[in-house]
Amino acid sequence: MKINITKFTVTIIVLIIVSFLSCANGLYKSNIDIKFSLSDKYKDLFYIGAAINEDIIMGRDLQSENIVTSEFNSVTPENSLKWMYVQPSPNKFNFVAADRYVELGTKNNMYIVGHALVWHNQLADFMKNKISPDEFNKHVETHIDRVVSRYKERIDAWDVVNEAFNEDGSLRESIFKKQMGDNYIEDVFKLAKKADPNADLIYNDYNLYKPAKRAGVLRMVKKLQNNGTKISAVGVQAHWSLKFPSLNEIEQIILDISDLDIDVMFTEIDITVLPNPWELVGAEVTQNFDKFEGDPKMDPYPNGLPDEIEAQLAKRYQDIFKLFIKHQDKISRVTFWGVMDRHSWLNDWPIKGRTNYPLLFDRNYQPKSAFKMLSNLVDN
Ligand code: G3I
Repeated sequence: MKINITKFTVTIIVLIIVSFLSCANGLYKSNIDIKFSLSDKYKDLFYIGAAINEDIIMGRDLQSENIVTSEFNSVTPENSLKWMYVQPSPNKFNFVAADRYVELGTKNNMYIVGHALVWHNQLADFMKNKISPDEFNKHVETHIDRVVSRYKERIDAWDVVNEAFNEDGSLRESIFKKQMGDNYIEDVFKLAKKADPNADLIYNDYNLYKPAKRAGVLRMVKKLQNNGTKISAVGVQAHWSLKFPSLNEIEQIILDISDLDIDVMFTEIDITVLPNPWELVGAEVTQNFDKFEGDPKMDPYPNGLPDEIEAQLAKRYQDIFKLFIKHQDKISRVTFWGVMDRHSWLNDWPIKGRTNYPLLFDRNYQPKSAFKMLSNLVDN
C-alpha cells in the first residue's frame, strides 16, 4: 500500500512537471506538420496579418499571442486604437492598450497597422454631442496629431478613413461630413501625412465588390491623387461568405484599384459559414437582427463544424488566395480579422450568440484545414 501511494504521488508529480514544461515551452502546438510559418511562406508575396483583440494585446491570451507571433508578420488592433478608447473625452487620451500593441508589433518586427482614425462608429460621445463645426474640426486635428505623432515611424500604416461611402457610391452623411464638409476625407489625409510623412495612408471600406460603391471610392482616390494628396492604398475589407462575392468580382476589385497605381490591401478577411437572415449590407454594424437570436436554423453548427463545411471553407480560402497570389504584384497585405474562431466578431453579428467558424484557427487554437491549404499553396 505504501509503495502504491508513492508510485501514485510520483506519477502525479511527473504529470504536473510535464504539463508545466509543455506550457512553458509554447502554449500553442500545431497538430499539422508545417515547416514554415504562414507569413514566412508568403514573405515574398505580401504581408499576412491578423487583427488582435485587447486580451492578446494585454497579455491575457498567451495562446493566441503565440499564434500571432509565429504565423503572422503584420498586426491590426481590432478595437484598441479606435477613437472611443483612445480619446474618450476631450483631450483625455488613454494610450495604455495602444502602447502595448505597438510594443508587441515592434518587438516582433511586424508591419504595424493603426485602425482607425476617422470612423463614424466607435467614436467618442463628445464628438456626437452638439458642438460647433469649429470645435469638431479642432478635435479632429488634435486627435490625428496626437495619435499619429505618438507612433511616428513605428506604426507603419494608418486606416485614415473608414467606411465613408454609401452602397451607391455617394458620400455617407456621417457626422464627419456634416461637421467638416464634403472635402473632409482629403483634409484628414493631409493631417495624417503631416503627423507622419512616411506612414502608409489607407482608405478602408467594405462591399467594394459592388461596382457603384467601388466607383465612388475610386473617384475619391483619383481626386486626392490629382491634388497631390498622399494616399497609399485602398483597404478592402473582406467580410465574405462561402459563396459571395464571386472570384470574378474579387478579381475586378484588384484590377480596378491597381489601375490607379495604388496598393491593394485586404484588410479584414473572414468567411462566414452561417446562413444570413436576408441580404445583408456588408459589414454595416448598426443593423438589428434581434428576432433571429436563438433560432436554431440560423445557428446550425453549435457543437462543431461538420467536415463537409470545413472542407468548403478550406476550398473557398484556397480559391481566394490563388487569386491573391496571381495578383501578388498589386497586393501588399492580407489581414485576417481575428486569430481564432471563438473570438471572431461574427459570432455576434448579424445575430448575437451564434457559433461561427470564419478564421484559420479553431476554438482549441489548432490550425484548421484552411490553414493547411493556404500553407501548401506556396512552396518554399
Ligand atoms: O467596450 C465594451 C466593453 O466595455 C464591454 O465589457 C464589452 C462587453 O461586450 O463590450 C465592449 O464593446 C464591444 C467592442 O467591440 C470591444 O470589444 C462592443 O460591444 C462591440 O460591438 C465591438 O465590436 C467591434 C465592432 O467593430 C464595432 O463596430 C468588433 O469587436 C470589431 O471586430 C469590429 O471591427 C470592424 C472594423 O473596426 C471595421 N470594419 C468592420 C469590422 C467588423 O464590424
